Amino acid sequence: MRILAIETSCDETAAAVLEGFDRILSHEIFSQAAIHSEFGGVVPEVASRNHLDELPRVVDRALASAGVDICDLGAVVATSGPGLAAALLVGTSAAKGLALGAGCPFLAVNHIEGHLLSPFFGEAEIPPHIALVVSGGHTLLFDVRKFGDYQLLGRTRDDAAGEAFDKVAKMLGLGYPGGVEIDRLARTGNSARFALPRGMLDSGDFHFSFSGLKTAVRMFLEKGFAEADLPDICASFQAAVVDVLVAKTFRAAHELGRPIVTMSGGVSANAGLRTTARLRAEKSGKILRFAPEGLRTDNALMIAYAAAHHLARGTSHSVTLDISPNFDPASLCG
Ligand code: KG4
Ligand code: ZN
Repeated sequence: MRILAIETSCDETAAAVLEGFDRILSHEIFSQAAIHSEFGGVVPEVASRNHLDELPRVVDRALASAGVDICDLGAVVATSGPGLAAALLVGTSAAKGLALGAGCPFLAVNHIEGHLLSPFFGEAEIPPHIALVVSGGHTLLFDVRKFGDYQLLGRTRDDAAGEAFDKVAKMLGLGYPGGVEIDRLARTGNSARFALPRGMLDSGDFHFSFSGLKTAVRMFLEKGFAEADLPDICASFQAAVVDVLVAKTFRAAHELGRPIVTMSGGVSANAGLRTTARLRAEKSGKILRFAPEGLRTDNALMIAYAAAHHLARGTSHSVTLDISPNFDPASLCG
């Protein structure tokens, strides 16, 4: 089956065509990051207007480069949440219209499930594992028994990890989105130079908190800092985030006896996180999998892949189904 997927939950306008679980026919992304960087963050109204402008072109390109006509599609699917309401409406409305026009099923996909399954992209079976979904909007830790059987172990109490990266980058004058810039500067920095708090590291649960760290960085910066200190500040901040993410994820794998650990979402591209997690995996004998390159930040291919699993089980939705802007663990975890 050929699936056309549309993703417009935040500031990426994306469309992809996937055949089965693994044949990528097209993978198109228009990033609005440059537009939003002017404002220092995503402006929902600006995002939805740009989705409206760009989506027809992005979908046309996805179909043309896949060499398929809408009549060849087995389903048209779209992210229905969580995300920005006005942005989600653009993608889901377009997908519903295309599905009706093509006379094929429509399916609404949960954005978090898209990230969560992306480390297994191409595979028909999802093995038991611990999944860390770490992005600009979410920091979620799941115990996964199989496809569709997810238990939420923990989540952030305040800011998402990516949000903390972006806010600290803004304080440092590094632009938006700042995660990549902090990652780049941290590579040459000394992570042990500045002692910053590891929020909830010893809380005994699987929840996270990054707002205390953000405040600690702000108070530190208010005392003044030299341009030359930037790499050390970035490395010290990054290490504080990474230490907690890695410690809790691997403790969950240990306590629940899961041999596989996955990391997905935009922050899973972070070099510090990847290195620390690899070392921990080697030490603890766990198998570590990341979302493949191109599928870490928001994209439509991960939505198509999650949809492939649902469609293989005969699931589809009515075109009257509404969007779900807020993350509701019950809708994903049952
Ligand atoms: O998954 P994503 O595209 O969007 C959400 O679903 O939220 O993640 C975007 C987030 C942003 O906060 C961005 O700064 C962060 O991922 N990010 C990174 C890196 N690349 C992207 N954070 C740290 N290091 C990176 N290399
Ligand atoms: Zn995302």
